[in-house]
Amino acid sequence: MNLKIRTEFGDDHEAIQLVHEQAFGGLAEAKLVAALRAGGYITVSLVATLNDNVVGHILFSPVMIRSAVGSIEILSLAPLAVLPEFQRQGIGTALVKMGIEACKATRYSSIVVLGDPAYYTQFGFSPALACSLKSPFGDSDSWMAMELFPGALSGIAGSVVYPPPFKVFE
Ligand SMILES: CC(C)(COP(=O)(O)OP(=O)(O)OC[C@H]1O[C@@H](n2cnc3c(N)ncnc32)[C@H](O)[C@@H]1OP(=O)(O)O)[C@@H](O)C(=O)NCCC(=O)NCCS
Repeated sequence: MNLKIRTEFGDDHEAIQLVHEQAFGGLAEAKLVAALRAGGYITVSLVATLNDNVVGHILFSPVMIRSAVGSIEILSLAPLAVLPEFQRQGIGTALVKMGIEACKATRYSSIVVLGDPAYYTQFGFSPALACSLKSPFGDSDSWMAMELFPGALSGIAGSVVYPPPFKVFE
């Protein structure tokens, strides 16, 4: 398997849309990616390629924690998808791990995600770390956070505000 993980190129946009449409079985996430790109909200966008064909994609965009003492910008992981025929081969894992490494090179300190805890806790995401962060998607065990350096979220509490393209999911 000739798997490569790299930053998206302009040429990848159509293939990325297709990955999300097929993985999620609908247009919502593909539209979200297009809207985040159009709005300039993409911080990290990686594709997984097999023999130069895009088979997976992960995106990180900034979100705001609004607290009583001010606002702090962190990152959101969403969406993540791998083409159905290539799932369960470690491609999603490679995208998340490389994505987190790429996020460490940005100015952001932490990442939030809404997803399956069984999947995301293996990368360091934790529901407990997100306890003091209010999700716009409602209370759930699927709401997790991870610090990009120890203590990054210590003492931080507030409501997480996503950029406008996420409104359709709230
Ligand atoms: C989630 C997703 C990106 C994982 O990609 P992948 O390449 O299959 O992941 P990996 O091969 O690295 O890991 C697979 C393991 O994760 C687990 N897993 C896969 N998808 C999962 C999911 N949605 N929730 C929880 N666990 C999941 C499986 O149990 C699998 O382990 P197993 O093979 O031992 O059973 C892929 O399944 C996908 O595109 N799903 C549809 C879109 C989606 O739900 N995205 C996530 C939104 S938060």
